[in-house]
Amino acid sequence: LLKCLNTVETVFRRSVGTEPIESVIVVVFLSPGENDAPKSLYDLMAHRQEQAERSVLISCPSRTSEKKFLKFLSKHGDIKKHFFYESYVSGPAGLYVFLPCFIVSAVGIMSSLCSTQLPFRSSAMTPQSSPANRTDWISSSCSFQIDEQISSLTEAYQLTEENSRLRFLVCSLLKDIAAAYFPECTIRPFGSSVNGFGKLGCDLDMFLDLDSISGWNLKRPKSGLSLEYQMKRTNSERHVTQSILSVIGECVDHFGPGCVGVQKILNARCPLVRFAHQPSGFQCDLTANNRVAMKSTELLYLYGELDPRVRSLVFTIRCWARAHSITSSIPGAWISNFSLTVMVLFFLQRRTPPIIPTLNQLRDLAGPEDESVIEGNDCTFVTDFSKIELQRNTDTLDQLLSDFFEFYATFPFSRMSINIRKGKEQNKPEVAPLHIQNPFETSLNVSKNVNTSQLDRFVALCQESAWLLQQSETRTPRGVGVGDTPAAWGLATLLLPSQVAGIKGRKKRKREPASERIKSLLESLKNKNEGKKSSDS
Ligand code: GTP
Ligand code: MG
Repeated sequence: LLKCLNTVETVFRRSVGTEPIESVIVVVFLSPGENDAPKSLYDLMAHRQEQAERSVLISCPSRTSEKKFLKFLSKHGDIKKHFFYESYVSGPAGLYVFLPCFIVSAVGIMSSLCSTQLPFRSSAMTPQSSPANRTDWISSSCSFQIDEQISSLTEAYQLTEENSRLRFLVCSLLKDIAAAYFPECTIRPFGSSVNGFGKLGCDLDMFLDLDSISGWNLKRPKSGLSLEYQMKRTNSERHVTQSILSVIGECVDHFGPGCVGVQKILNARCPLVRFAHQPSGFQCDLTANNRVAMKSTELLYLYGELDPRVRSLVFTIRCWARAHSITSSIPGAWISNFSLTVMVLFFLQRRTPPIIPTLNQLRDLAGPEDESVIEGNDCTFVTDFSKIELQRNTDTLDQLLSDFFEFYATFPFSRMSINIRKGKEQNKPEVAPLHIQNPFETSLNVSKNVNTSQLDRFVALCQESAWLLQQSETRTPRGVGVGDTPAAWGLATLLLPSQVAGIKGRKKRKREPASERIKSLLESLKNKNEGKKSSDS
């Protein structure tokens, strides 16, 4: 809008010169465009799904110049935007082009290109600005405050528009495969791909939604005659989910273009099919009948939208935890990103005054249209953001970060359970080192997997980070460090390997790509310090 007003002003000035202007009425017509950010998660998802339907992802034939290839494609449709990128997942690098809003049959194009190559549509894509480029962006901007470091970190590592759109395109591809069995099904992304806390490179969680199939899930009349399709009966819903995922897993394995390393993990609490989608580089988890997880995603999204500090703090704590191997991409006894996010939300509910409302308060604001009961669990909460009134809290991100570490450095984990429904710690209902009540399935503990040693590491690292943030040398940009490299300060200090004996991280841990990114982030944060010094001098 500002840009638009500036243009209007420039044009206006040209015609009236420098005469003083008393008042100008400007009427701006905004048409719903690509960049309008819809408010609710459902609106956003519907918008993205619709975009995915109009996008294609094409594997470029080898030894083809990008320019020539685009020229060729433009004969088949109007190319508004395009992104070329290379994918290295499980095999030799391949060049791909992602064409959002390209309305044409990809099959037609590709078959005329090369008869042995199967065409496909996919929503997975890596934007042309790779993580390395993004950290360049941070280093080119100077930040002198921890608050600014936190914002830079969020800006640099959160999912980009293109990355997010690719995730929906992958769902669309999978839907095409699943539609062989369930013609009207939908595949929806959930978890960090859409909850607003996703970091570039996070996995793509999807669930097969059969509720959109006409007639499925309709309540049958209690009396009288009714007609219904015959369906095979099975003894449990879990068994149905396992069967569905089993056949879809087979299809993905045999016919899913670019889907490699397919594993069917059907005996897990939440059965899933795991695979890598080569063209996009996404690690994918496909589940079915997972509506509660979709509700948790919606809740996390809502909290993230309420106040910008929520997203930044969650993001920073997630990065901090990853840098110290408190979380991992491999399942195990460590704290999950979901548990960690709930811990941050709980901390924000405990501020004076609270930054975000409790889940019970959100439920009390709900209208009849928000009612949701899934498998007997009350998942109702308000979806109209305008009904939520926030209290005035002016804490800075810097302050919140320090206090988060202090809060959990001294939290009575041995006795108390974290409860975002009530916004208050509760006595632990069962023995477990870490107890975080599942917000919707309230009898469950979302951190049941966490063992004592992992919780101890988390607490020790919170103590260390709280201590570091109290030191004046941590808080201010410092001079040159060892070997003439800029010294880390502020947030960067917290991401460095721990100095405390016993919390050094798991032994012989292979460096993973995320750690590499944290490393380059550290460098860029250090460079910012360097930038400040030179501008000061
Ligand atoms: P990353 O993938 O680590 O970036 O974060 P994520 O939030 O996507 O977590 P994950 O892939 O482990 O799980 C995906 C989603 O499933 C989460 O966002 C939650 O909505 C849900 N979820 C994960 N673990 C649990 C759990 O223990 N209980 C419940 N109710 N939901 C969970
Ligand atoms: Mg995930």
